[in-house]
Amino acid sequence: MRWFSRSPRGSRATEVLPSPNIWYFQQAYEVENRAQDVDGEIWRVLREECDWTGRDVLDLGCGDGFHLPRFALDARSVLGVEPHAPLARDAAKRVQDLPNVSVREGRAQRLPVDDASVDVVHARTAYFFGPGCEPGLREAERVLRPGGAILIVDLDATSEPYGGWLRADLPHYDPAEVERFFDREGFRLRRVATRWRFTDHAALESVLKIEFSAQVAERATAEVRRRTVGSDVTLPVGYRVHTRIKPTGLVLPGHSASSGDPSSSSTSTSPRIV
Ligand SMILES: C[S@@+](CC[C@H](N)C(=O)[O-])C[C@H]1O[C@@H](n2cnc3c(N)ncnc32)[C@H](O)[C@@H]1O
Repeated sequence: MRWFSRSPRGSRATEVLPSPNIWYFQQAYEVENRAQDVDGEIWRVLREECDWTGRDVLDLGCGDGFHLPRFALDARSVLGVEPHAPLARDAAKRVQDLPNVSVREGRAQRLPVDDASVDVVHARTAYFFGPGCEPGLREAERVLRPGGAILIVDLDATSEPYGGWLRADLPHYDPAEVERFFDREGFRLRRVATRWRFTDHAALESVLKIEFSAQVAERATAEVRRRTVGSDVTLPVGYRVHTRIKPTGLVLPGHSASSGDPSSSSTSTSPRIV
């Protein structure tokens, strides 16, 4: 999680956080993306939270576009937004043969997107890391249609062993504070247990090296070697999925706006969305 550890203090005001992993080690990051979530658990949870079939999806901080083709399988349209120009170009290249996908250069704080024009804003390990991301949350709300969802996927630093390595590199990072922040902002939280699977130890090590300091990467490599049985190089990694649904109408005072499911708002007994 070097994107976070290398951010200077006060970086909350920084508009674009360089991600040392994908910005500088794009090939290793591709290996990481391919290794991640081999059982499709994150995709299963995302779809349970808000199905995008036939709808318009925005992937915010899309990097070089790894997740765009997956959304494109059943979304009506997919837009990738990415502030780092070289990555935005590579994302556009990746999806050049997919007619329902496009990519724009832009950032979370000023989305190059019309008001109320998408149904899902998805962001995976990008920008929405906790306190400080309020401008992006406001923008996401602006571009969502009523009933649409913002889906934020990030690593769960409380889940071992990966979370322990993250915390070793980020002694000031407070997972509970981050979770309280999203709770206050009206998000619900689901924890997702996944497995990363690599073709071999060299692939795993190339990824650990771009995510952690040399010392922690070494420790992590040794731990995985110890737990590896045969040639199956897998690693349990926990994620958080935070979801907030944009209300379909006025929210009455005293009622939360966070779980207004548009399909059930007329019969729901919880938040009153009118
Ligand atoms: C760790 S990468 C994840 C990329 C992609 N979501 C993925 O899962 O492959 C984080 C991405 O967030 C982007 N980013 C940094 N600052 C941003 C901002 N202000 N708005 C949107 N994206 C941002 C980075 O350029 C980088 O591509």
